[in-house]
Amino acid sequence: MKNLSIERNPVPLEARKVVKAYPLGHAETRALDGVDLRIEPGEFVAVMGPSGSGKSSLLNLLVGLDRPTSGEVWVEGRALSTLDEDGLTALRRTRVGVIFQAFNLLPGLSAQENVELPLRAAGTSRQAASQRARAMLERVGLAERCGHRPDELSGGQAQRVAIARALVIEPLIVVADEPTGSLDSENGSGVLRLLRQLNDERGVAVLMVTHAPAAAAYADRIVTMSDGQVVGEERPRADQPVLVHALA
Ligand SMILES: Nc1ncnc2c1ncn2[C@@H]1O[C@H](COP(=O)(O)OP(=O)(O)O)[C@@H](O)[C@H]1O
Ligand SMILES: [Mg+2]
Repeated sequence: MKNLSIERNPVPLEARKVVKAYPLGHAETRALDGVDLRIEPGEFVAVMGPSGSGKSSLLNLLVGLDRPTSGEVWVEGRALSTLDEDGLTALRRTRVGVIFQAFNLLPGLSAQENVELPLRAAGTSRQAASQRARAMLERVGLAERCGHRPDELSGGQAQRVAIARALVIEPLIVVADEPTGSLDSENGSGVLRLLRQLNDERGVAVLMVTHAPAAAAYADRIVTMSDGQVVGEERPRADQPVLVHALA
């Protein structure tokens, strides 16, 4: 008999023995040197570590933007090595929300159109995409800004649009590389509170790379990297019960 709780709560993301080597002249740089990482359903994990420790390399592999030299990544139990480029693109469009430091919104489109885009790309009807994008923008506090283009928004607002775009596909996990890196502290903490709220209320897992201890403090678990390896792990909210969210 199938285990229903596993059916309903697949592990959103897992990396095992992941190595990434970049060629460097006749030698190579080992950006990642055997990383094991598993994100549980609904968990909020921060990845910290000095510049050059491999954080961005790891995120790129986890969302299938790059392939490991060896080792394997699973998204919802599916090995990424079994997918071709189209399969990886489809996975990012439908299963994993990605948030970048520089927002990466399309400049010629309104906030509303930016948020509709992943839905349209995944085949959602125009009308349904419009309604869902609108509702998501309301949730991130931008109901009044739907028609604005990115250059008409503040940095904090632009990152909220990017969060709406990542979450509108209802992913099991969102992956964010330095999401507050381009923001002042007030806008940065607004974005972190929003991510934490969405994590709490929707059960979406969050994997966030950050330099800032204050940002990492929003996480359930902090993973520290150094020289391409995971060298430490702590639970800043260890006093609180672990939340295992039931996903409908
Ligand atoms: N595309 C690339 N080609 C060659 N070396 C790279 C590339 N990307 C990253 N590196 C190297 O891999 C290491 C880890 O980089 P990165 O993953 O960007 O670290 P972080 O995000 O923690 O600053 C660094 O030594 C960096 O110079
Ligand atoms: Mg980086």
